[in-house]
Amino acid sequence: MEPRKALKDVLLDWKSWGVDQVPRGAAAPATAPSQSPAGLDSLRAEVAACVKCRLHKTRTLTVFCSGNPSPLMFLGEAPGADEDAQGEVFVGAAGKLLTRVLREVGIARDRVYIANVLKCRPPGNRPPEPDEAAACAPYLKRQIELVNPKVLCALGKHAAASLMGWEGPMKGVRGVWQLREGRWVTATYHPSYLLRSPGDTDLVKADLRGVLAKLAELGVGL
Ligand code: URA
Ligand code: SF4
Repeated sequence: MEPRKALKDVLLDWKSWGVDQVPRGAAAPATAPSQSPAGLDSLRAEVAACVKCRLHKTRTLTVFCSGNPSPLMFLGEAPGADEDAQGEVFVGAAGKLLTRVLREVGIARDRVYIANVLKCRPPGNRPPEPDEAAACAPYLKRQIELVNPKVLCALGKHAAASLMGWEGPMKGVRGVWQLREGRWVTATYHPSYLLRSPGDTDLVKADLRGVLAKLAELGVGL
């Protein structure tokens, strides 16, 4: 590839990961150190071999993410039966609903990065136990650092607890914004909740429009 074009492609990649400045005279590495997909690949491999909590005994596959590094990252709770079987995030009924609601507000699912608090399925889809979330948290922390999103949106109370330290009902935190470690963080209802309470879909859409407004305010496109 022609060098200028190659450089442009690298810079566009970095931009999509949220890098908006490169110091003058910086030695340009082939990939941005803290956003390198290689880092995410090795983290994924580490997770796939993880036995740090009891869930490793009952999982079929670990579930790491969907999408490429993006300025917008969503965080769900934990894999369900379909995700556990396929090793993919949000591919069951809740995932189909999530994909549709995102599309309806103008967010293409393949332009955002999606992960879960837990990388392994809790048996019978029970909620995560605190010790499981604690065991898995270092992976999520590294995943966020590597993806380096500008905006994070928690889906449901376990993600809101993990990202925002919120322990109350979702209605008290949805649409609320916090700046944490240089990233804007908010929350909305989990798509599984919407399957049970479809009347609240408009609230989620309003929250997602808030996410788009925040990205626009930051001058970040998807
Ligand atoms: N629910 C989640 O929180 N995550 C998934 O990946 C699927 C269902
Ligand atoms: Fe490891 Fe997380 Fe899976 Fe527990 S849930 S075994 S900590 S990857």
